[in-house]
Amino acid sequence: MKAKKLIEVAMPIKEISAESVRDKSIRHGHISTLHLWWARRPLPVCRAVVFASLVPDPLDENCPQAFKDAVATLLKGSQYKPYDDIPYTSAIDEMDDNLRHRLMMFIGRFSDKCQKNMIAGKATSPAEQLSAGSLIKWENKNNEAVLNIARKLIWVAYHSEHDPHLNYERLSYLFDKAYQDIKEAEKALYDIQDRHKMTPEVQQAEKRLHNAIDALQQRMPSVFDPFAGGGAIPLEAARLGCRSYGNDINPVAHIIERGSAEFPQKHGKPIRYTEAEFRRIYGKEGVDMLGEKGFAFFDGVVEIPNRLAWDVEFYAKRILRESEKEVGWMYPTDENGNKPVAYYWVRTAKCSNPSCGAEVPLLRSFYLCKTSRKKVYLNPIIKGSEIQFEIKQGDCNIKEWNHRGNLTCPCCGNITEVEKVKEQSKKNRLPERLVAIISESNNGKVYSIPNDEVFNKIQSFQLGKDCFKPSEKMPIDYIQAFPSCTWGYDSWGDLFSDRQLTVLNTLSNKLSSLFDTDEFDNYKNVIKTYMAILIDKQTDYYNSFCTWDSSRETDSHVFSRQAISMVFDYPEANLFSYSTGCFNNMIDWVVRYLNSESASPFSCEFRNASSGEKTQFESKELTAVVTDPPYYDAIGYADCSDFFYVWLKHILGDIYPIVFSTPKTPKSDECTALIHYHGTQEKAKHHFESKLTQIFDAIEEQTSDVVSIMFAHQSTEAWTTLCNSILNARMNITGSWPMDTELANRSVGLQGAALESSVTVSCRPSQRQGFAEYKEVKRAIEKNVKEEVNKLYDLGFRGADLLTACFGQAVSEFGKYEVVEKSNGDRVMVAELLELSREAAFNALLEGVQGDDFTKFYLGWLQLNGMSSTNYDDVTKFTRVGLPIDVREVFSQGLLVKEPSGNKQHLATAAEHLEGDHIAGTRDTDLLIDQAHRAILFYKDENRPALLKLLRDINAQDANASFWRLLASLKELLPACDDLKQVQGLLQNGEDLRQASRQNEQPTTTQTTIEF
Ligand SMILES: C[S@@+](CC[C@H](N)C(=O)[O-])C[C@H]1O[C@@H](n2cnc3c(N)ncnc32)[C@H](O)[C@@H]1O
Repeated sequence: MKAKKLIEVAMPIKEISAESVRDKSIRHGHISTLHLWWARRPLPVCRAVVFASLVPDPLDENCPQAFKDAVATLLKGSQYKPYDDIPYTSAIDEMDDNLRHRLMMFIGRFSDKCQKNMIAGKATSPAEQLSAGSLIKWENKNNEAVLNIARKLIWVAYHSEHDPHLNYERLSYLFDKAYQDIKEAEKALYDIQDRHKMTPEVQQAEKRLHNAIDALQQRMPSVFDPFAGGGAIPLEAARLGCRSYGNDINPVAHIIERGSAEFPQKHGKPIRYTEAEFRRIYGKEGVDMLGEKGFAFFDGVVEIPNRLAWDVEFYAKRILRESEKEVGWMYPTDENGNKPVAYYWVRTAKCSNPSCGAEVPLLRSFYLCKTSRKKVYLNPIIKGSEIQFEIKQGDCNIKEWNHRGNLTCPCCGNITEVEKVKEQSKKNRLPERLVAIISESNNGKVYSIPNDEVFNKIQSFQLGKDCFKPSEKMPIDYIQAFPSCTWGYDSWGDLFSDRQLTVLNTLSNKLSSLFDTDEFDNYKNVIKTYMAILIDKQTDYYNSFCTWDSSRETDSHVFSRQAISMVFDYPEANLFSYSTGCFNNMIDWVVRYLNSESASPFSCEFRNASSGEKTQFESKELTAVVTDPPYYDAIGYADCSDFFYVWLKHILGDIYPIVFSTPKTPKSDECTALIHYHGTQEKAKHHFESKLTQIFDAIEEQTSDVVSIMFAHQSTEAWTTLCNSILNARMNITGSWPMDTELANRSVGLQGAALESSVTVSCRPSQRQGFAEYKEVKRAIEKNVKEEVNKLYDLGFRGADLLTACFGQAVSEFGKYEVVEKSNGDRVMVAELLELSREAAFNALLEGVQGDDFTKFYLGWLQLNGMSSTNYDDVTKFTRVGLPIDVREVFSQGLLVKEPSGNKQHLATAAEHLEGDHIAGTRDTDLLIDQAHRAILFYKDENRPALLKLLRDINAQDANASFWRLLASLKELLPACDDLKQVQGLLQNGEDLRQASRQNEQPTTTQTTIEF
C-alpha cells in the first residue's frame, strides 16, 4: 500500500496564505503582468499544492525509507526547524520536531522576526514574513539551491515509491548527475559563438541539451492541469522539474500559457554574438541598445544574457519607432515640444428638448484631478446651447449632468431619460468630444483645453478604408458582464476610437514586415507571438472604455473586472509617450517577465483543447493532477477573452492557423454555468456538472495518484456541482485545505482579519463501501466538521470561508458509500449534505451557547464576521444555516444595520440595536441579546438602579444564569470597542452586582454618578 501524500495529511496553510496574499501585490516580473487572464491563482499556493501532491507524508507507515532519509538529510538544521512556539495560536505550544513538520517548514516557515511579531501581536512587512529557505517564497523562484531540494525530494519520492529498495544516497547521486548533465549541456551550447546560425555544431549541442533535460524529466512525475488558464499551475510544476502538461479550451489562454511557461524557459537563454554578426543583424539600433543596457563587446564578442528578452525588446521598439514615424503626427506635441500623455474624451447626447437640442457631454464628474494636494476640474461655460470648458483649480460644486445615464441639460434644465439617451446611442453611437489634453511636467500632470487647431485635427480624424476593425459581435445577452452592449456598442471594434484603431493597425502591419528573411527560422514566430501579446496587452489600456482615476491621475485598463461597463468619459493614452498606458510601458512589463522567468531549464507542454479526452493520456500515465476549474458562473472566460481573441487572430492567425480557426473563442464546450448560453439556471448547472464530470472521469482513469482541485466559489450550488462531479467520476475527497489568497495588505498577527479563501481538495479514486444509513453518516460528519471548525477557527479563518472549508469533510465521509439513505428510504443528495455541513460547522461554533435563535445569530455572526461590514448576500447565506429565522426579521430586530450604500451591513452595537429603547426592566418580547445590550447601556450610563432592576427582572442573580454566560461569550468575541469595555466592566463587577440585586437594593430617584 502506498503512503498518503502530504496534501492528504497536513499543509502549512497559514504560511501559504501569507505568501499568497503577498503574491497579489507583486508586480515586476510576475506572471500576471505578461498578459491579463482572469482568476489567476497565486504562485505560492500552486507551488505548495503541486509539491505536497507529489511527496508522501514522512510519518505514514508506508512512507519509503529513502524518502524519510531524504527529508532528514536535506531538511536538517535550524533553517527548517519546526516552531518552538507556534506563533499563530494563543497557547504556548511547541511543534514536534518530526519529519512531517520539517517538510511543512520547507514549504513555508514564518521567519524568526515574523514569529516574534506575531506572538507580540505586531505586523511584519509582507516580504519578511516567510524565512529565506521557504520553497514558496517569491525570492526563491529561481533559487537553484532551494528548488533542487524540492526537485530532489520529488525525485526520491517518485523513485522510491516504485522501487522501495532504492536508497537515498543512490537516488541523490542519480539526481545530481542528471542535473549536472543539463548544466554541462547548457554551458556547451551557450558558449558557442553565433549559435543562432544552425550549424551542425549548434544542432548537436541543442540535441545534447534537449536529451539531458528529457532524461531528467522522464524520471520525474508528470503533472497535468486540465484548466490551465494563465498557466500558473503548469509553470510551478515545471519549475519543480516535473513533466508538466496543461490544457485550455481558450486560444487566448493557450497563447498566454506558451508565452509564460514554454518560450521563456526554452529561448530565454544567453547568446554570444561576434561583433560582425551582431552588427549585421541589429545594426546601429542594436549597438545603441547595447550601450543603454550596459553591454559591450569584449575581444570582438558580446554576450546577451537573455536572447529572448533582448529580441522582444529590440523588435518591439523597432515597431514602435516605425509606427511613430507613420502615425505619430496624430498625437502632436505641445508648444514646448512635450508629448501629451493622454487625451480626455466625453461621449455626448442631444438634449431631448426640441427648442434646446444642446449636444451635452455626459459628465458624471467634472474633476480631472482630485487628490488631497491638488484639485483640477472642467468648468463649463454655457452660451445658449453651446457648451465650452475651461480648466479651473479648486473645489467643484457643479452637479453632475449625467445621473445613471439620465441627462440633465445644463442649458435648459430638461431631463432626457436614460432610455432616450440609449436610443440615441443605439442609433448612431454617442458622438465623442475631446475636452482636455493631459501632459506631464516636472510638477506632475498638467491639464489644458485643446486649441482650435489641435481640436479640429483630432476631432475630425476618420478611420482609413483598409483599417482592420474587429466586426465580431459581443455577447449581447450577457448583460451582467457587458452592459455596454445595451447601449449599442455591441461589436468588439466598437470599443475603440478611429484613432486607436489606426494606431493598432499600424503596429500590427509593422509586425508583418518585421522579418523579411528566413534569419531566425521558427524562433521568429516566437518573437512575433510576443509582439502580438504586446499589442493585445496594449488594447486593454487603449480603448474607449478605459477609465480615468482622478484620485491617482492615471488611466485604468478596461478589464479591471471581468466585465465591460458603459463608460461616458475616457482617457485615450498617447501610446507614443512614456506614461502608464504607453507602448514602452507594455514592453517593459513583458521584458521584465521574460528576464524573471527564463532561468529554469524546464518548460511545459500546452494543448489548446477542451479537456476530458480519454485518449490524451494512457491509463494511469499521469502521476498527479493539480487544477483550478472555472468557478461555476463567476467568469465568462470565452466571452471576455473575445476582446483579445479578435486581435490575436488578426495578428497570429497565419502562424497558429488551427488555434485561431474559429471566428471567436469556442463557447459550447466551456465548462461554466452561464445562463445566457443555456437558457435556464437548471440547464446551466447541468452543463457545468456534466462537463466537469466528463473531465474528472477522464482524469480518474489517467492519474495514478492524487488529484488536487482548487475552488474559490462559496455558493452551495457551485460546491454541489463540484462535489457531484468528483463523486460521479468515482473519486472521493481525501483532504481539504482553505487558503487565504485574496486579500492584500492584511497584516499577519494573532488577530488576523477575516480571510477570503479558496479551498483546495485532494481526491483519489475511491472504493465505495455500498450502503450507509444517513444518521450514521450524519453523526460522523458532525464529529469531523466540529474538529475541523475548531482547528480552522484557531488558525484565523472566519466568515463564509470557514463554513465552506468544512464541505470537504462532509463529502469525504459521504463519498465512502455508494448510497446513503434516510430511514424512509430517500437517498441523500450532495446539496443536502453541504447544508448539513454548514449547519454542523455553525453549531460547532455556537457550542455551549444557549438562548433564543436571534441571540445565537448575533453570536454566530460575531464569530464569523466580527463587527465589520459584509455584503448583503452574506445574510442570506448565513440565515440558511440551521437557524429558523428570516433575513427580514434580523433587520427588523435591529441586529444588523444596513449601511448607506444599501448593499452592505454590519452587526449592531448595543446602542445601534436598542436605539432610544433602553428603558429599565424587561419586556415580554425581550431576547437574551436585548437584555445584554440593555445592561451594557445602563452600565455605560452609570445607571446602577436600572441595572440592578434589570438583573432582578431577568433572574440574573446567579453567576450561572444565561445572561452572564452570554456576557462571557461577548467578552471573548467582541473586537476592541466600546461595547467590549462595558462588558469587561460588567463582568469585573459581576459579583457585586449580583449581590446587590439579590439584596433588593432600592433604586435611587435622582440619577447620580455611581462608582461601580
Ligand atoms: C479558473 S481558470 C484557471 C486559472 C488558472 N489556474 C490560472 O492561474 O491562471 C479556469 C480555466 O478553465 C478553462 N476552461 C473552461 N472550460 C474548459 C474545458 N472544457 N477544457 C479546458 N479548459 C477549460 C477556462 O478557459 C479558464 O482558463
